[in-house]
Amino acid sequence: MLDFKEEIAQALQKATGLEKEELKNYIEVPKDASMGDYAFPCFKLAKTLKKAPPMIATEINEKLEVNENVITKVEIVGGYINFYVNNNTFINEVLKEYDAKKEQYGNSNMGEGKNIVIEYSSPNIAKPFHIGHLRSTVIGGALYKIYKFLGYNTIGINHLGDYGTQFGKIIEGYKRWGEEYQVEENPIDELTKIYIRINKLCEEDEEVLNLCRDNFKKLEEGDEYCTKIWQKFRDLSLKEFKRIYDMLNINFDSWNGEAFYSDKMDEVIQKLEKTGKLVESEGAKIIDLTEQNMAPCIIEKSNGSTTYATRDLAAILYRARTYDFDKDIYVVAYEQNLHFKQVFEVAKLLGLDEKYVNGLEHVPFGMVRLKTGKMSTREGTLIKLEDLLNEAISRALKVVEEKNPDLENKEEVAKKVGLGAVIFNDLSNSRIKDEVFDWDTMLNFQGETGPYVQYIYVRTKSVLEKAGYVPEYKEINTNILADDASYAVVKTIANFADTLKQVVEKNEPSILARYLIELSQSFSSFYNNNKIIGEEKEVQDARLYLTYIVGNILKTGANLLGIEMPDRM
Ligand code: ARG
Repeated sequence: MLDFKEEIAQALQKATGLEKEELKNYIEVPKDASMGDYAFPCFKLAKTLKKAPPMIATEINEKLEVNENVITKVEIVGGYINFYVNNNTFINEVLKEYDAKKEQYGNSNMGEGKNIVIEYSSPNIAKPFHIGHLRSTVIGGALYKIYKFLGYNTIGINHLGDYGTQFGKIIEGYKRWGEEYQVEENPIDELTKIYIRINKLCEEDEEVLNLCRDNFKKLEEGDEYCTKIWQKFRDLSLKEFKRIYDMLNINFDSWNGEAFYSDKMDEVIQKLEKTGKLVESEGAKIIDLTEQNMAPCIIEKSNGSTTYATRDLAAILYRARTYDFDKDIYVVAYEQNLHFKQVFEVAKLLGLDEKYVNGLEHVPFGMVRLKTGKMSTREGTLIKLEDLLNEAISRALKVVEEKNPDLENKEEVAKKVGLGAVIFNDLSNSRIKDEVFDWDTMLNFQGETGPYVQYIYVRTKSVLEKAGYVPEYKEINTNILADDASYAVVKTIANFADTLKQVVEKNEPSILARYLIELSQSFSSFYNNNKIIGEEKEVQDARLYLTYIVGNILKTGANLLGIEMPDRM
């Protein structure tokens, strides 16, 4: 596609004699279309040229020569030079690009040859998968798909919490009362009950606590009985988690959780010991981080057992060697900010190549707040995720039944709409913000929601179905799409690739979610302003082609977020 920024940068270079790439970087796309299609903010040059921005703008403008096939109008507003592109050329360029790439429109090869490890979801086995894990799952799942689409070699890892002293306890409880519980039918709930019961007993009886500690030690040493039970807990838990992942279209390339590193921590300790920075403190081995203004990172507890942090350090070593990562991204709640800061700091001592240390990145996100406390248990946020997802589906079914009682496959549609609503709600605001969980807001077909995007998609489908054909790009008369409403749609279409690029630059899927709302809204006003079917063939074709592109991008974009599109709703 013709690079409009490049054209403008070239003209600016001729007029100023400054470096083209720098000028190009400064060029902006104004939010308000009445300010032109591109704008050059002259204050960026004020320091170099030692002049006031409006003065710079006037002087550049006097010398500016633009190709009229590309730029039709140049206007100075204060310190800005606003450029208006030739609409016809622009529309034609966008449609041509779409025609050439079709389903691949928006992708690029920016990720070629780059390895990206994305760690997400990472629930704890034998414990409920709660709504906090949902955010990691959904945000990480979207990032995984988007990186892939942009050509990165992407490795999705579920760093399961399948290790630690609590397993010594669950094993002890299971040994004592396993028969009393329906662990096979309902593993996580039942194991949680066992855990709570044994914990109570441990508080009352030191002897039991010692037995639990013993079990964990045996587990670490590979004792057959303990390993067998632990494996059973893990398998049963995964079976439950996988039901959730299937609903949410989530995939992983690796399920190596904490236990995987149980035999890989000695190396970490040895490497740290060599640096001379691993010191004793109250019987534990720690790395002092006073200089970095942080609490120390505990590497080995006083009883000799390893820690969550040590397992993360072992994982960094393993991932660097196994995946040669350019980035290793951790999609984990901001509550663990300190943990990752400590781990990344200590990782500098492992003797790894700079590349790996610099590639570590914590991608934090905010909490989920419930508008009504209705579904929460006494602990607050411990809502069972599967129940919540099923409730989303049954609520969506009610809405669909109300709006379209004759619809076929209502259950299937409700599944896509309900889950789409939950996923979109999770992704529609910048991730660091706390998320508000409110059924009515997220299921509103007119709001900035998943169902709204699906609804607009379904509309594009039904327009095309009514027409019965998709016109050929070559036959489109772009003049017909020059009205404001159509042109706004074309401009939004043109932004798709750039939107995806921004998502990976900031690890922020909400940028794509917002984009889908914008595209839906611009299509909606195009649709309300322009008759599509029943117009003269030439007009119908042009509008139909625009409708076709919008539908496809909405689908591609939604799928990248993990949302499925219904054909009707
Ligand atoms: N299992 C942990 C939890 O549920 C999250 C793991 C985060 N990842 C990591 N590499 N530490 O809180």
